[in-house]
Amino acid sequence: MVETKEIPRSSVIVPIRSLGPSHRERIAAHLQALDEHDRYLRFGYPANDEQIQRYTQGLDFDRDEIFGIYNRKLELIAMAHLAFSKDPGMRSCAEFGVSVLKKARGRGYGARLFERATIHARNEGVDMLFIHALTENTAMIKIARNAGATLERAGSETDAHLRLVPATLDSRMTEMVEEQIAITDYRLKVQARNFWDFLSGMQEVRQGVRDGRHKSGN
Ligand SMILES: CC(C)(COP(=O)(O)OP(=O)(O)OC[C@H]1O[C@@H](n2cnc3c(N)ncnc32)[C@H](O)[C@@H]1OP(=O)(O)O)[C@@H](O)C(=O)NCCC(=O)NCCS
Repeated sequence: MVETKEIPRSSVIVPIRSLGPSHRERIAAHLQALDEHDRYLRFGYPANDEQIQRYTQGLDFDRDEIFGIYNRKLELIAMAHLAFSKDPGMRSCAEFGVSVLKKARGRGYGARLFERATIHARNEGVDMLFIHALTENTAMIKIARNAGATLERAGSETDAHLRLVPATLDSRMTEMVEEQIAITDYRLKVQARNFWDFLSGMQEVRQGVRDGRHKSGN
């Protein structure tokens, strides 16, 4: 078994925020935007829209942690689910699942979500993180391998487990700072979107006035 040292932090800076129940709809929209093959890679079966709805409705935001990356249009372009064991005797274990929309892949978001999830898991006292992937899933397997996970291939499926080092002051501070940055970033995106909506509303009003003048010949 490989003992991890501190997982090397990636150089990609991206605000990742912890998602709550108010994000359910966006989570469902994100997962439903995945094509059949991606759904198969993510869930281990080609989940249909209804199954995704059920999964989303069933998310337990108190027990688990869901992380997300939003773009400027407030579209959830990447998300990860850190699922803690339901078995009270296995509270030190968690499973990681992730998805990134096709248009946002290859930018390091998957790896960053993994890194963020491991910091949170450590801070929650988890010492073993599991990842279940299909053997064909090169990107996911790379993420796990780069972090120092032990891979066990069984035909078309590969299980990975990563032993985590205990939390430190640094891991706790890192998580707090990253969450604050992500919350601020999200608020700014919401403000920017509201402002653009306001501007386009004004444009419509102006256009309406112009059209009215035109018709009345003023
Ligand atoms: C797996 C997935 C999350 C990766 O997301 P991503 O943001 O594109 O990944 P990253 O950009 O962080 O890349 C991670 C590593 O994989 C490599 N990689 C990315 N896409 C790759 C591809 N298509 N083929 C081979 N390697 C690839 C990257 O080079 C990087 O490795 P490196 O750091 O050694 O260079 C994304 O492909 C996805 O959502 N797939 C569908 C759902 C899924 O498979 N989930 C995982 C199972 S839970």
